[in-house]
Amino acid sequence: MTERDAAKKIEKLRNEIRRHEHLYYVLDAPEISDAEYDALMNELKKLEAANPALVTPDSPTQRVGGKPAEGFKKAQHSRPMLSLDNAYSQEELADWDRRVHELAGNLPVEYTAELKLDGLSVALLYQPGPNGSAQLSSGLTRGDGQTGEDVTTNIRTIRSVPLTIPVEKLKKAKLPQEFEVRGEVVMPEKAFLRTNEQREQEGLAAFVNPRNSAAGAVRTLDPSLVANRGLVFFAYFLLVDGEYFAAGQTATLDALTALGFRVNPHRERVRTVEEMLKFINDAETRRASLGYEIDGVVLKVNGHATQQRLGYTGRAPRWAIAYKFTAQAAISKLEDIMITVGRSGKLTPTAMLTPVFVGGVTVSRATLHNADFIERMGLKIGDWVRVERGGDVIPKVAEVVHDAEHPRGTHKFSFPANCPECGNAVVREEGEADWRCVNADCPAKLRESLLHFASRGVMNIEGLGEAAVAQLLERGLVKSVADLYSLSEEQLVGLERFAEKSARTLLNEIERSKKAGLARAIMGLGIRFVGERTAELLAQEFGSIDAIMSASREELERVEEVGPRISEAIEDFFARPANRTLVQALKDAGVNMTAQKKQRTTQLEGLTFVLTGTLPNMTREEAKEKIEAVGGKTAGSVSKKTSYVVAGEEAGSKLDKARELKIPVIDEDGLKALLQGKAPSK
Ligand code: IVH
Repeated sequence: MTERDAAKKIEKLRNEIRRHEHLYYVLDAPEISDAEYDALMNELKKLEAANPALVTPDSPTQRVGGKPAEGFKKAQHSRPMLSLDNAYSQEELADWDRRVHELAGNLPVEYTAELKLDGLSVALLYQPGPNGSAQLSSGLTRGDGQTGEDVTTNIRTIRSVPLTIPVEKLKKAKLPQEFEVRGEVVMPEKAFLRTNEQREQEGLAAFVNPRNSAAGAVRTLDPSLVANRGLVFFAYFLLVDGEYFAAGQTATLDALTALGFRVNPHRERVRTVEEMLKFINDAETRRASLGYEIDGVVLKVNGHATQQRLGYTGRAPRWAIAYKFTAQAAISKLEDIMITVGRSGKLTPTAMLTPVFVGGVTVSRATLHNADFIERMGLKIGDWVRVERGGDVIPKVAEVVHDAEHPRGTHKFSFPANCPECGNAVVREEGEADWRCVNADCPAKLRESLLHFASRGVMNIEGLGEAAVAQLLERGLVKSVADLYSLSEEQLVGLERFAEKSARTLLNEIERSKKAGLARAIMGLGIRFVGERTAELLAQEFGSIDAIMSASREELERVEEVGPRISEAIEDFFARPANRTLVQALKDAGVNMTAQKKQRTTQLEGLTFVLTGTLPNMTREEAKEKIEAVGGKTAGSVSKKTSYVVAGEEAGSKLDKARELKIPVIDEDGLKALLQGKAPSK
């Protein structure tokens, strides 16, 4: 066979195999038997072996390529991968629908209802390939939402992910060669059971649920092991130039289908709360027979313009919501109550239960909140209780069960008067529900502070988990979070399960965390009530930890979202000498404690705006004030000197003029972005 003939034959076989992969893994409708598929694949493998120059990365034979990885690189997302707000009841859903209608004003409101798949979200990037095609270039996990891990080699092994998309399909979907697809990787229940059987045989701990198992698989370092994990990718978002596909959610799902992605078939367009509830009911009925786990239903506003008008809260779009299925429950025995001490010294009781299977996972612990909760329930050790798994991951004890089969427990539980970790007397302040250990040197507090500091949403120090922290404390290597920055390789290598390489990796992670930024460092300090968003706003407003430390309560309260409760907590925190010492030690260690200050007055200096039409949330007068407050000017008519035209509903001739003169036109969101010193999105 000449090379040309071989090339032709190879291409034909590849297309044939791709078609069968699509039929099997995406459409669930195979046309040929597994044996016939294997035969095609073997033929292709042979031809490629004889013509190594013709092997391309998008060949179906190349899904499992590459060697086991050393670890995963981190990569920035094109736009944050947000989460969803939740609704747990019909009322909450109706409230959300009402809010959507209010905010949407006169824009149309219609929803797409989808299943909420219980897996892990990933982002797939496609880039220009040969002959006008698009090729999978990378696959990232969600990570902390801003940066994920590059798990491309593993994503490539998932057969429902197309490695290449031909130009015809791109045209049909009206897509450029470069775009991003987001969706959920799930592990079907059968594959989950198989995985656990295998793990048991290998003497490994079983995964508690398919989601953990899928997450484990996606983060496996050897791609050849991931390939037979049976993972499935369901696509639900399409981004072009970092923006959601402009035709809306239903059209997105159609386009993804046309591109050859697997899109969950259970989706529907709905308009009213009644229709949503019907979809939810149907989904609950179907739930057991789907073959993969779902934990609710996601409702997304369909229209792109309406989505944009609704916008985002700090962490989730206002135009989507997750309706979580109601709790699943089981009965179990309360064997004991364990008390743990948190970062702030708070004592939290946890129910230790006889392991019981609830809604897909084995539960052996549940939260009991505080002493009052135990008192109110009248809990006794040995009681039978109803355990619920609701929307939250943490199971709850809902009530004591008492009948012929479930006799009451006999052992009364009394809340400890002393800290279980350090033995000091615990205190409970007036009006507070919690008992606290107030010993500043309580080892539990230090341990929890370290874990908090290292956690993903804070300084994100990978490898500094419970086991490592416990050892660091045992050996007295750290006495405060700042001591992490003076750890040496020799010290770490002495620890259990720490080889030279993992020691170096951890030190690198610690080093990297110095650049996490002021907002995260503030969170790392663990000031009461100061969460992610408040920390971010404080960082932007003050620009340095010193400025925050010396700010008065009035100055603090000028920050959005900071009220008296938070300002008092901040003041109390920095009033303590130990905390000031800690801040100094972190600074000395080189932790970045500064941030780009939000420019206050001059960021629109030199820019002229023309306002036209009705803006959804502010009057023209308000917009004018806001622009002028930060140094911008407004004008009544459009000219070449106009920097931006801000157009609202029913914008008239000024808009036409702007188009004619090619002056950028932005909407209210765009203006808001500019006012905050960001680039306006288109
Ligand atoms: S939309 C900003 N659609 O649920 C958009 N998410 O609780 C958020 N999920 O992180 C994603 N099925 O991992 C969307 N049909 C679906 C989903 C879905 C499952 C997951 C996703 C997300 C989490 C949020």
